[in-house]
Amino acid sequence: MKLKVYRYNKKLDSPHYTTFKFRPKPGMTILEALFQIQKQFDDSLAFHYSCRGAVCGTCAMLINKVPRLACRTQLMPLLKGELKINLISYHTIEETNVPWDPEEEILIEPLPHLPVIKDLIVDMSTFFKYYKFIEPVFKPANPAPEKERLIEPNALTELELYTNCILCAACFGACPVDGKNPEYLGPAALAKLYRFHIDPRESNGSERLELANIPNGWWACEFYGNCTRVCPKGVPPTIGIAKARKEIGNKVKSQED
Ligand code: SF4
Ligand code: FES
Repeated sequence: MKLKVYRYNKKLDSPHYTTFKFRPKPGMTILEALFQIQKQFDDSLAFHYSCRGAVCGTCAMLINKVPRLACRTQLMPLLKGELKINLISYHTIEETNVPWDPEEEILIEPLPHLPVIKDLIVDMSTFFKYYKFIEPVFKPANPAPEKERLIEPNALTELELYTNCILCAACFGACPVDGKNPEYLGPAALAKLYRFHIDPRESNGSERLELANIPNGWWACEFYGNCTRVCPKGVPPTIGIAKARKEIGNKVKSQED
C-alpha cells in the first residue's frame, strides 16, 4: 500500500507530496505509519502527537480529505472504505487537486484553515486565540464548599457532551465557514462557551451567551454539520449553537413584548 503525504518546508521547498510504499501491520494506525516512515524512509517528516491514545488532540490531520486523529485511525479499515465520513464539500478540501487512488493509497495532509509550519504541523494560534476569547475558565457562583460541588445528574448529561472536547481542531478544519471567514470563532470555541453557559455551578452562565452574540460568533454558523460529523469525541457544536441562538432570540423577544 502507499501513503501519499503532504510535504512543506518553507526553507527548502514549495508544497508537494511524497509517496511512501510499505506493508501495513494489522491494526496499524496512521500515527504508527508516520513513525515507520520516519524510521525507514525519511526522518525529516514532521508531525505532532503526544498521548497516542486520542486524548491530547495534537495529532489531528486531514486523512483522505477528512479531519481525523492519526492515533485513532487505522490504515486497513480506511483502505477498505469502512471509515467513510461524508462531509459537505468545501473549498479547502477541493483546492488541492492531488490525484490519489483511495483503494490503494491513503492521502495525508495538514488540517485545513490553519497555516502550515512544516509538513503536517499547523500553527494553532488562531484556533487558540478564539478559544481564549470565550474565557474558558470555570467561574464558580459560590465559595468553594468543604467537599465537592454537587451537580444534578440530569444537568450533567448535557454538560458532559461538551466537556469531552480535546481541542484537536478537527471541527475547525472541517468547517466551511471557517474556510471563508477567518474571523469566525469556530465550532470548538462556541461549543465550549455553551458548556459554561449551561453549567449550573457557574456564576454568570447566563451572561456567557452574550460573549459570542456578535456577527462572527453564534450568528456566523451556517449549520453545515461537518464539525459534528468529524468530532472524535462526539461533541455536537451545532446543537449548542442552535440552542444559544434560540435563547438569545427568546430573550430579545421577551424584552420587546
Ligand atoms: S469539538 Fe470535537 S473536533 Fe472540535 S476541537 Fe473539540 S474534540 Fe476536536
Ligand atoms: S496523539 Fe494524542 S490525540 Fe492523537
